[in-house]
Amino acid sequence: MLNFDLHIPTKIYFGRGRENETGAIAARHGARRVLVCYGGGSVLRSGLMQRVTESLDAAGLVHFELGGVQPNPTAEFAAHVARAATERGCDTLLAVGGGSVIDTVKMAAYCVGQDFEPWDVTSKRAVPRGRARVGVVLTIAATGSETSNSAVLTHNGLKRGYSSDLNRPDFAIMDPAITFTLPPYQTACGVVDIMMHTMERYMCTNDGNTLVDELCEGELRAVISAGRTAMSVAEDYESRATLMLAGSLSHNGIMGAGRACGLWAHKLEHEISGLNDSIAHGAGLAVVWPAYLKFFAARRAGEGRLFRYAVKIWGVEEDILHPERTISGGIEATQAYFDELGMPSTLGELGLSEADIPVMADKCTNYGNIVFPAMAPIGRAEAEEIYRLCL
Ligand code: NZQ
Ligand code: ZN
Repeated sequence: MLNFDLHIPTKIYFGRGRENETGAIAARHGARRVLVCYGGGSVLRSGLMQRVTESLDAAGLVHFELGGVQPNPTAEFAAHVARAATERGCDTLLAVGGGSVIDTVKMAAYCVGQDFEPWDVTSKRAVPRGRARVGVVLTIAATGSETSNSAVLTHNGLKRGYSSDLNRPDFAIMDPAITFTLPPYQTACGVVDIMMHTMERYMCTNDGNTLVDELCEGELRAVISAGRTAMSVAEDYESRATLMLAGSLSHNGIMGAGRACGLWAHKLEHEISGLNDSIAHGAGLAVVWPAYLKFFAARRAGEGRLFRYAVKIWGVEEDILHPERTISGGIEATQAYFDELGMPSTLGELGLSEADIPVMADKCTNYGNIVFPAMAPIGRAEAEEIYRLCL
């Protein structure tokens, strides 16, 4: 186990009806004037926004509402949120939504009352020393942004993350029943994203992670099973609760503790949804991951990891004499599960073509200047090779 730092300060308020405590919770965290930020309107239609604002009223908090965050959010909209919070003298930004709303709020919070904008922070032209208070009422189990140290924005077709422990929200209210209204496609995208945050960390390049390996394997088996149930019974509370808790655990850093790992398949995906913002992050990941695994399998890189992945997570029979057969079985089982969820499996299904590949490989590796230290190094040529396996 390698040395690591881990700081997860977000206070979680988990369970049925907890959104009705939003006002009291925000007040306990010091909020007085709150900008409530949301997306395209699902929270209005479901009645969630009304419950949240009634609770803010009951706690005597001044609040303003601002909707319109789009999936794969833009830096420009985050700047608009920051200006709105500054003009209204807000001390707290409350995200009522999924990763897109949360990331918008996280990045806007740095810029309240400041003379720089969110993209200045993402591109490291500005170094924030503090931020406005950030709270979350989570509506989708997916990104883990409610406790993660990252926030992802798009600017001029470039989708980039910013990582800092200061990104972690002050509080996150998580009622699994809020996710009953998710369209099945979004539930499925969320399941894939949750799994990916763990699977990517699992594919590390060092040994000696027995405890965290077992945590990852147990979590993935639980998510695979809960994903199936949530897709067939939308209002199954226990499976929704499993997915919601797993979303946070997958991406708060625990699953990577002591590991030499990175979210390189995520970087390949960000070029996909960066190119076309109507592509859901989880759907892009579902296309990339089987291809990513095939790339390592063909090189016999990370063979032990891929073998264990197949056996412990997907229940593939161990064939010690022919490990490549077990490994293929794991990749096929992954693909079959993503198919079962109704996820796309090719770039074509996402509306992209072979012509997009060189552009994505260039952007992902900064024109060949970056090599990701994955189980086999991934530079520009390898990124292109993986994208071609997605055709
Ligand atoms: O906008 P509304 O109308 O609310 O509809 C949303 C949106 O269309 C809908 N939705 C959310 N909760 C719902 C609901 N519909 C009905 N009922 C509910 N309860 O779902 C759609 C997708 O929402 P979005 O917030 O975009 O989804 P997600 O949570 O998957 O966030 C994706 C974004 O987060 C980034 C992604 O790249 C993408 O930009 N990520 C952020 C990370 C982080 N900050 O740690 C890590 C991830 O790897 C990821 O990159
Ligand atoms: Zn993700």
